[in-house]
Amino acid sequence: MASVEDIGIDLGSSNVLIYARRKGIVLNEPAMLAVDHESRNVIAIGREAHKMLGREPNNIEVIRPLQKGTIQDFDMLSIMLNHFVMRVIGKHIFARPRAVMSLSASSNEIEKRQLIIGMFEAGARRTQMIDRPLAAAAGADMDITQYSGQMVADVGGATTDIAVIASGEMSARNTLGIAGDAFTDAIIRYVRLKHNLLIGFHTAEDVKCAIGTVYPLGESAVALPIAGRNLVSGLPKQIEVTREEITEAMEEPLHQMLEGLHAVIERVPPELANDVFENGILLTGGGAAMKGLPEIIAEMMKIPCRAAENPQQCVAVGCGKALERPADFDRFLGDRRKGRR
Ligand SMILES: Nc1ncnc2c1ncn2[C@@H]1O[C@H](COP(=O)(O)OP(=O)(O)O)[C@@H](O)[C@H]1O
Ligand SMILES: [Mg+2]
Repeated sequence: MASVEDIGIDLGSSNVLIYARRKGIVLNEPAMLAVDHESRNVIAIGREAHKMLGREPNNIEVIRPLQKGTIQDFDMLSIMLNHFVMRVIGKHIFARPRAVMSLSASSNEIEKRQLIIGMFEAGARRTQMIDRPLAAAAGADMDITQYSGQMVADVGGATTDIAVIASGEMSARNTLGIAGDAFTDAIIRYVRLKHNLLIGFHTAEDVKCAIGTVYPLGESAVALPIAGRNLVSGLPKQIEVTREEITEAMEEPLHQMLEGLHAVIERVPPELANDVFENGILLTGGGAAMKGLPEIIAEMMKIPCRAAENPQQCVAVGCGKALERPADFDRFLGDRRKGRR
């Protein structure tokens, strides 16, 4: 018996998650590296690099290799992936696990092959890729083989991956560059314009998660103190922002996301669109934890919408399931991506 469990890897733009068979999620770390500007030496990876974000000394840069839906820095992506995989697998010369991986960025065949070679070097016997919406749906326990159409939207940091799935195929798919980061950036912009205050990404992210809502839920006057730099005096300053302001700040990315969902529904055949109206939309990914998101989608699109349980883990869990249920998933794995539209 192999002592190393097979693994599912969610190589996300914000976070890397690894799921191990029979163990569950064994790694969940920010997809970041701290790198020395000149030497390109890696100083820290994952959580340690995340701590430095916004506070990094002049000679150090914190990098997110998958930031904008594409591979921004392939070498750094490989270093980060190898580091995490080796940590989970450990050193086993004879028992190498299999892996299924989902990447939250567009990539070409050469990059994919190189990632797979990197995985082998890190200790995986065989690595197969799976499309993100299929992994997300499977991880949320959606029956992807069901003939009646279902819609899934994985809302990550950099991208929202949307698909209508029916009979185990993706009938329409679209990847939007609007996801959690766009909401965070919108908060930064709003606070700068309205309050002349420059806040960091960490601060904006904290505000978003603590009081942010895209739908009037809860007490709108709830306020949170935030600190930044006064753009007039150049000095540190603290102000209070209300939930109502944050909702207003996030209106623009919200509308872009709604348009993106709409565009996918418009492309599917009428029978499938009808199925989606009945079966609803499932949200996965860390961004699905955004308060009010299922409610506003349901209201604006007149389609039932819900967030999965533990939405951030769905993709990694789905990759793991793909390994456990070869009969259902084998045809989606590997380099054979049919990409039907
Ligand atoms: N409670 C929350 N409320 C709002 N947004 C959240 C919450 N938790 C996580 N997020 C957002 O989820 C996004 C990251 O989701 P994740 O699935 O980890 O990304 P990726 O798959 O691209 O790595 C970030 O934009 C983060 O701010
Ligand atoms: Mg995710």
